[in-house]
Amino acid sequence: MSRDRVPTRMLPSGDEMPLIGFGTWRLHDDTLRAALDAAIAAGYRHFDTAQAYGNEADIGDHLAEYDREEFFITSKVVGSDLAYDRVIRTCRESIDRLGTDYLDLYMIHLPNPAISLRETLSAMATLVKERLVRNVGVSNFDAYRLSCAQHIADVPIAVNQIEFHPIFQQPGLVEYCTQTDVVIEAAAPLGRGAVFSDELVTSISEKYGKSNAQVVLRWILEQDIVSLPRSSNPAHVEENIDILDWKLTEDDRHALDDHPRDEAIYTMPTAHWENDDYGIIH
Ligand SMILES: NC(=O)c1ccc[n+]([C@@H]2O[C@H](COP(=O)([O-])OP(=O)(O)OC[C@H]3O[C@@H](n4cnc5c(N)ncnc54)[C@H](OP(=O)(O)O)[C@@H]3O)[C@@H](O)[C@H]2O)c1
Repeated sequence: MSRDRVPTRMLPSGDEMPLIGFGTWRLHDDTLRAALDAAIAAGYRHFDTAQAYGNEADIGDHLAEYDREEFFITSKVVGSDLAYDRVIRTCRESIDRLGTDYLDLYMIHLPNPAISLRETLSAMATLVKERLVRNVGVSNFDAYRLSCAQHIADVPIAVNQIEFHPIFQQPGLVEYCTQTDVVIEAAAPLGRGAVFSDELVTSISEKYGKSNAQVVLRWILEQDIVSLPRSSNPAHVEENIDILDWKLTEDDRHALDDHPRDEAIYTMPTAHWENDDYGIIH
């Protein structure tokens, strides 16, 4: 499969971001290497990692043998490192571990109301000016926080990476992002496995002779939303990008739109405050 076949979204920088990316949370060592081999062979050129995933160095080692320009690489800074100097330092560390000169997209992994957003975004603008980062994004931002970021940032907020799958659709937030030209990336697009036992998804999949993963990822693609499926299984990796040659009918698309859609898998009503990678206090 050619990478040119994966449709893209243009970001404010003029860069084209492939609408299917490879999620890498919890992938390490040999499992990660085998998954990356399968992903590159299948046509993925967009990789999503983060400081908190602890796998940037392995990803960097693996991608080193390819032409950097072929790839779209995202990393994220954790909520506890959002002070100006820490953002700059953390980004440089991610870039070093990934063995690259720049990130295509750098994002705030989750909001931290204890640290000034203005300060964080000022650091992001510095990183863009220094050509270490090509596009700036946020993740897990609700519409209020995103709107605040848009009003104070000196660089466009290109992307909001949020939980999105048929069982948790966040329609108000999606609408706000769409209205303000913020590209949505679907984190946990397979609901971390929840879509595999879903009756509606299963009944639609059976009609098309496709897997539940393929139907959900196709439904996301048809909304011009980026998906970031993760798999440790090379056959799944390949299956998840093999969604470009067919379409859902309007009725099936709408049936998925109308699925009961308020069941979050990872989005929490309150943040973790401390003691893990996603805590917001060091
Ligand atoms: N910004 C954030 O806060 C945030 C939060 C969550 C996720 N993300 C990003 O989004 C990515 C994806 O989310 P996720 O990793 O939470 O979960 P996910 O992609 O929704 O689901 C991954 C699970 O689905 C299984 N799977 C994948 N393809 C399959 C297939 N074709 N058939 C059967 N099972 C399949 C995988 O198992 P196998 O390994 O056995 O295939 C794995 O257990 C992450 O890796 C990360 O990059 C970001």
